Amino acid sequence: MYSFDQSPTDAAFVQDPYPAYDRARENGPLVWWDAYGMPAAMDHATVHAILRDRRFGRECPAELAGDIPEHLRAFYAVEAHSMLELDPPRHTRLRGLVLRGFTSRRIKELAPEIEALALELAQALPDDPFDLITAYATPLPVIVIARLLGVPDSMAPQLLNWSNAMVAMYQARRNRAIEDAAASAAQEFSDFLRGYVEERRAKPADDLITHLIAAEEEGEKLSTDELITTCILLLNAGHEATVHTLGNGVKTLLETGMLSEAQADMERTVEEILRYDPPLHMFTRYAKEPVTIHDHMFQRGDQVALMLGAANRDPANWTDPDKFDPTRAPKPNASFGAGLHFCVGAPLARLELRIGLATLLKQHPHLRLTHAPEYANLYHFHGLTRLMVRTS
Ligand code: HEM
Repeated sequence: MYSFDQSPTDAAFVQDPYPAYDRARENGPLVWWDAYGMPAAMDHATVHAILRDRRFGRECPAELAGDIPEHLRAFYAVEAHSMLELDPPRHTRLRGLVLRGFTSRRIKELAPEIEALALELAQALPDDPFDLITAYATPLPVIVIARLLGVPDSMAPQLLNWSNAMVAMYQARRNRAIEDAAASAAQEFSDFLRGYVEERRAKPADDLITHLIAAEEEGEKLSTDELITTCILLLNAGHEATVHTLGNGVKTLLETGMLSEAQADMERTVEEILRYDPPLHMFTRYAKEPVTIHDHMFQRGDQVALMLGAANRDPANWTDPDKFDPTRAPKPNASFGAGLHFCVGAPLARLELRIGLATLLKQHPHLRLTHAPEYANLYHFHGLTRLMVRTS
């Protein structure tokens, strides 16, 4: 198997990983990524096939799982109940409960509220150069997910701090300080939610937390720990990736100058933004039994990296994959995953992205870059440190 000798923290790779993905893909659908010590699937067909293959799962086989270090106990106490980290049957039960509160009707009903919030944020943008990530791309999804769960808007900055500290655990350059910060954030976030859930029990409302409490109170369906973790997962996953898709998308539109093409068809534009420069580039799976893929024999417990960002640039699946084309006829890309863990929030994210982009471009038709944008060194996350623009 081809050895893919690429540091995920290398500056040039962080700024533009796609040439390295091409190089790897040209050497086979599975390559050995030295830095992660596992095979990585680079092409669309293999990534999709493994995401759907029930012989692979998210959980490390129990007999192979290592001990959790003391300083990370609080973090893994939360992760232990996260549907994102679980296989059936627990995954099926937790996901089913969340999906009941995430019906397409409920998501569609949010449109007027998202429009009003986007307009309020867009109209408050200054004339001077400013960072669009902090002023617009971040507050929009954070406030939407907080309201959906039933957490007050005023908590948004705190939710953001906890979430950033927790998801930092999944970056390549994780160290002890990042681990300690993630464990403290997990502890504080769960303590807050435990108290908040008690308040909500006494004062039910028409929100997702109340809906999940009802499932918990019905008995076997949801334990309190699962309820807390599910709220944390939704609050974190509910904005991290959307913020950076919005940022990456505006960057691409401003760099390519394709603003009018984008406005003509927001649905296609959002799909193309998701395909062309997604915010999450890699997820992993464990083999649950011996399985051979492309002549490589996985043993039980072996991991494989599924390269979403590379799959989206596979020339076998896309004509001219390196070209950003907001008129491209949409077809499934890998950005929301596939199979059992396909993103629960995809309809909400798409709605936020369409409304967020359309409102921004309508309110500020002269939006332009003032500084060259830079991606943050947080691989496998692929989002901008800041996006300096002006509106006139
Ligand atoms: C553009 C924005 C988004 C992107 C690119 C994205 C991407 C993804 C991906 C790739 C996965 C699957 C991971 C895997 O297979 O291991 C996933 C799962 C998930 N996402 Fe998203 N997501 C986005 C927005 C959202 C939003 C807005 C929410 C919540 C409201 C959300 C909630 C979740 C949850 C709960 C899961 C776990 C599903 C499961 O394990 O069954 N995501 N997301």
